[in-house]
Amino acid sequence: MAEIRIRNTNEIISGEDNVRNFLSQYEVIYEHWDVSKLPAELQNNFTLSDEQKGEILRTFDAEIKDLVARRGYRTWDIITLSEATPNIEELLAKFEQVHTHTEDEIRVIIAGAGTFIIKGDDQTGYFDVNLVPGDLISVPENTAHFFTLTDERKVVAVRLFVEENGWIAHPYDDPAFKKA
Ligand SMILES: [Fe+2]
Repeated sequence: MAEIRIRNTNEIISGEDNVRNFLSQYEVIYEHWDVSKLPAELQNNFTLSDEQKGEILRTFDAEIKDLVARRGYRTWDIITLSEATPNIEELLAKFEQVHTHTEDEIRVIIAGAGTFIIKGDDQTGYFDVNLVPGDLISVPENTAHFFTLTDERKVVAVRLFVEENGWIAHPYDDPAFKKA
């Protein structure tokens, strides 16, 4: 289950309802998929073949169709990142810049873990949303954020897009942001 850490105060928010309520004030959507539906060999696998990626997407066909109906996504895929990813350092360095997009950024964690760092209101400041398998998050358009991995550095996630170019990162220069 996702957990939130507010960077300025180190306050931790946990428990599904608390997490959902906190995120909803920033219009961040937080939902769940049942990853136990996946065959065992796909549940903790970070070197997926295209066939295996297809099998994951087929397993969650109903969940994807539901998101398409509610939110208008038109394409989706699976991203895997691990030490086996050739340019992992470069990719992470690129990810770890505060930015915005013109459409929402939705991710569903299938295996591993990941963290979204999101800008809240002026008083709250930035907060980390630590995601584990089954967690779905959607960061709204024009909300400053970035994504990174945990120390384990591995994740499998489903991504959905409305427009291919809606996901272009627009740098968000924020003197208030401190890496922590
Ligand atoms: Fe982003």
